Amino acid sequence: MRNPNQSAASVSETYHQQYAKPEERLQIKQLVNPIAASDAHINAGNDVIQGLTQTPKSLPPHYFYDDRGSELFEQICDLPEYYPTRTEASILRQYAGEIAQITGACELVELGSGSSTKTRLLLDAYEAFDYPLSYLPIDVSAGILESSARQLLLDYPSLQVQGLVSTYEFALKQLIPPQLPTRMIFFLGSTLGNLNPQKCDVFFSQITAALKVGEYFLLGVDLQKSKQLLEAAYNDSQGVTAEFNLNILEHLNQRFNGNFDTQLFKHWAFYNEKLNQIEMHLRSLKTHQVRLEEIDLTVFFETDETIMTEISRKFDLDVIQQELQAKGLKPLKVWTDSKRWFGLLLCQLQPTTFASVAD
Ligand code: AVI
Repeated sequence: MRNPNQSAASVSETYHQQYAKPEERLQIKQLVNPIAASDAHINAGNDVIQGLTQTPKSLPPHYFYDDRGSELFEQICDLPEYYPTRTEASILRQYAGEIAQITGACELVELGSGSSTKTRLLLDAYEAFDYPLSYLPIDVSAGILESSARQLLLDYPSLQVQGLVSTYEFALKQLIPPQLPTRMIFFLGSTLGNLNPQKCDVFFSQITAALKVGEYFLLGVDLQKSKQLLEAAYNDSQGVTAEFNLNILEHLNQRFNGNFDTQLFKHWAFYNEKLNQIEMHLRSLKTHQVRLEEIDLTVFFETDETIMTEISRKFDLDVIQQELQAKGLKPLKVWTDSKRWFGLLLCQLQPTTFASVAD
C-alpha cells in the first residue's frame, strides 16, 4: 500500500527498490505443436478443405481471428446489442473480491486472454488482498498477448506475467510450472459456447487434467433468453457482426491465395431454439465458384447455399453445473446479473474418486 505522505520522488525510489522493471517481470513463450509443425505444409488448410467440401458447408471459427477479425471482435464487445461482455464484466466487478477470498492467493491462468480487459477486475481484487500477482495468459495471437501483458505490467508493479502463445487445447497439455502453489484457470466471455457438446466434453477433461485436486476453474457462460434479444446481439444495427462474419472469407483469400468475393455473400444469424444456439452462416447470393490456389481447392456455390461459420450455445445454469460436477469440477459458487442473462461459475477440482462416482 502506498503511503499518502510519501513524496513522488521517494515513491519512485521505493518502486525501483521493491519491484523489478516491467520487462524483467515478463516471459513469453511460443508453444509449437510438434505434430502441426512437422506437418505444417501438408496440414495447412485441411480443415478448410474438409469444411468446404462437405454438405452443408462449414468453416472452423478460428479463421475469424486474423488481425482485422480480432479488431472487429473488440468492436462487437462494445456494441449496444452485444450484452455478454458488459454483463459478465458487471458480475466480475461485483464479485471478484468474493472469488479472491474463496481461492486465496493463486496463479491466474487465462484461456484466450485477448485484450485482458476483464482480467484487471480479478487482478484488482487479488491485489486488494495483498496476494502475490502471477498471471499466465494464453492466446494464439502473439501481438495482442504481448501488448496487453506490457500494459498490465505497467499498471501492476508487482505482477509477474508468463504468457503462452498457443491454442488453449495445446497449452493445457503442457502448462509451464506454476509460480504459486495454487492455480485458477479461467475461461470468460462464453467462448465455451463456440464448442459443440462433444468438444465441450473434451475441453472439460483437458481442464481437469491440467489442474491439481483443490485448484479452481472460473467459467463465464451466456444464458438462455428470448430469441429477440439473442438475435439482436448477432445482427447489430451497425453491421459490425456482419463484417466480422464476412471477414473470414477475406482471411481465407489472404491465407490461401483465394478469390472469395465478399459481395456475393450475406451475413445470416438466427437462434436455433431446439439446440439453444445462435448459428452464424454466410449465404451465397448467386451460383458461382471460388478458387483457393494455395490448397488447390475449387468450391461451387448454389444460390442461397450457406457456409456455417459459428455456433454460439446458450446455457442453462442447472445443466452446466451438472456437467461440470460430473467431470469432478464441483461448482462452489454461481453468480448472475439481476436479469440472469449471464452466469459466472467458480468450480474446484475434486479427487478422482468423486468424479468417477458422479460419472
Ligand atoms: C467469442 N465468442 C464467445 C463470441 C460469441 O458470442 O459466440 C463470438 C461472436 N460471434 C459473433 N459475435 C460474437
